[in-house]
Amino acid sequence: MTIIYENTSISPEINKRLWEMPKVEIHVHLEGATDAATVWKLAKRNKVTLPAATLEEWQGMYAFRDFDHFLDIYLLATQCMQTVDDFAFMLNRFLAEQARQNVRYCEVFLSASFILDKFPQDEVIAVFAEGIKRGKEKYDIGLCFIPDIARHIPETRYRVLDFILEGRDAGVFIGLGLGGPEAGYPPELFADVYEEARRQGLHVVAHAGEVVGPESIWGALNKLKAERIGHGVRSVDDPKLLEYLAETQIPLEVCPHSNYRLKVTPLDEPHQIRKLVDAGVCCTVNSDDPPMFSTDLTSEYLLLAKQGFSWIELWQLNRNALEASFLSEAEKVKYRAEWDAFYAMEK
Ligand code: ADE
Ligand code: ZN
Repeated sequence: MTIIYENTSISPEINKRLWEMPKVEIHVHLEGATDAATVWKLAKRNKVTLPAATLEEWQGMYAFRDFDHFLDIYLLATQCMQTVDDFAFMLNRFLAEQARQNVRYCEVFLSASFILDKFPQDEVIAVFAEGIKRGKEKYDIGLCFIPDIARHIPETRYRVLDFILEGRDAGVFIGLGLGGPEAGYPPELFADVYEEARRQGLHVVAHAGEVVGPESIWGALNKLKAERIGHGVRSVDDPKLLEYLAETQIPLEVCPHSNYRLKVTPLDEPHQIRKLVDAGVCCTVNSDDPPMFSTDLTSEYLLLAKQGFSWIELWQLNRNALEASFLSEAEKVKYRAEWDAFYAMEK
């Protein structure tokens, strides 16, 4: 797959800066951040049969026709993740990769609807708590988790909420998310559990406006009261929505490579983030399911640089991610100092 709309060559200096800059990531899925070779290994370990005879064939299945095709592969991958040790292993690999990108803090989605019946909740929560500790001690990375409900199994929604509340008390989970197929599973189906989550003091976010148009984003805003929108790129089709997003500064978690790979954005067009930024919408840059889309967080910024975003604009997007995160004000102050020091050095 070639993104045709990469028209500007970038200087080695910008390349280096984008690699080195301290980053925050607020939209990345742990399961989707697990590479094909690891999934293959877990499948063998857990005696799960994948519809491929070799690792190469399995890797070849990561050329997605569309969102539904991607989701089929994503679900197969999650079926290979069977034990708490699998999650510990995935998490260690994830942390090493985030450290390589100089990600200083991240909020990570877990596909909780698929975890519920696999193992005792307290055991897997202990693994995530251990991951947070390891992130701090080994890499000095801040980490927390946002379990999400898979839209196509809405009946899991209250069990996911119970799981989150248990993990929140252990200092591991901070909010509720909504992932999976948007088409056919509108936000309204989840209004009740979102209301309860908010009442319990959790943060709430939702994927919306990736596959379905503006009405899905309006639903996430009005019915779920989402504090941030995952993707949200289809808002470019609704001037009133663009105006609303610009006015409220509700952040969008934009994932450019994901959108190209799933045909949400045509390969021969610039990414919608250009229009969003120009309309004054608060955008952040994220990698979603990085190895599934042959990307990483730095490559997301590099792509935007190739599409003509200036260093100042890219830096602002990076700052937006810090401000849009659910870090406390005291923690943000600490990170802002680090950001400012890097920016002053690079000016
Ligand atoms: N789960 C993992 N990646 C996703 C995406 N891009 N959209 C919705 N749900 C997801
Ligand atoms: Zn996502």
